[in-house]
Amino acid sequence: MNFLLLGCGKTGALVAELARERGHDVRVLRSQDNPNASALTPQNLREVDVVLDFTSPDAALKNMEACIQTGKNIVVGTTGWYEELPKIRARVEAAGTGFVFGANFSLGVNIFFEIARASAAALKHGYFGQIFERHHAKKKDAPSGTALSLQHIVRETSDVELEIVSFREGEVVGMHEITFDSPHDDIYICHDSKSRRGFAEGAVRAAEWVAGKKGFYDFRDIWRQL
Ligand SMILES: NC(=O)c1ccc[n+]([C@@H]2O[C@H](COP(=O)([O-])OP(=O)(O)OC[C@H]3O[C@@H](n4cnc5c(N)ncnc54)[C@H](OP(=O)(O)O)[C@@H]3O)[C@@H](O)[C@H]2O)c1
Repeated sequence: MNFLLLGCGKTGALVAELARERGHDVRVLRSQDNPNASALTPQNLREVDVVLDFTSPDAALKNMEACIQTGKNIVVGTTGWYEELPKIRARVEAAGTGFVFGANFSLGVNIFFEIARASAAALKHGYFGQIFERHHAKKKDAPSGTALSLQHIVRETSDVELEIVSFREGEVVGMHEITFDSPHDDIYICHDSKSRRGFAEGAVRAAEWVAGKKGFYDFRDIWRQL
């Protein structure tokens, strides 16, 4: 397939590597090539099957808008824009394009989400829950999109909104922990990413999956189909 990758930072660079390993053609645009989504013209996108975005929240919103307008399917790995999610969803559904977003494209994290969903039962039995997340010092958004997803999953199953505590330090790829405390015992459930390759592989597989499809999808709902 022909992929256009927006952003070639820490994660984007690995997405390009993984996509090429899986036999795809990948063109990359960096920020200087694409200010205000100016490179995303119908002509430049004509041969592209799917666009992948690993940029920053502001840039990603402009990139999404340009892809929707051009009728191009997009996989958005960038986090930190989710207050705009209902608006983007409506735009995608009206335009009839394909769209996958995800706070975390790692299959391991998505399995962790399922475990967190089951563990929320503890809140109905007197446990006190908290979410902790730890990332590298340069991460722009806090709390992380993954921590917000965890909070959402627990709220859906228990009606309790857990506090999120964020740490930014060193080179930490991404660690998320959900804890439940009672007078009798503690429960700790933790996911610790060792490298960004897990995110990159999930994103490339999501792009293969969404090519030629219509609809607005959260990676958490489709990863089992990859
Ligand atoms: N969903 C997931 O599984 C997952 C996993 C990891 C990270 N993320 C998210 O992905 C995003 C990027 O993370 P990262 O760690 O790779 O950050 P990063 O190292 O800062 O890379 C971001 C890149 O985006 C580029 N960029 C900015 N505006 C652009 C534009 N208009 N067009 C093209 N490129 C543009 C920047 O280029 P310049 O350096 O030239 O400005 C930079 O190289 C963050 O939101 C992060 O939270 C998501």
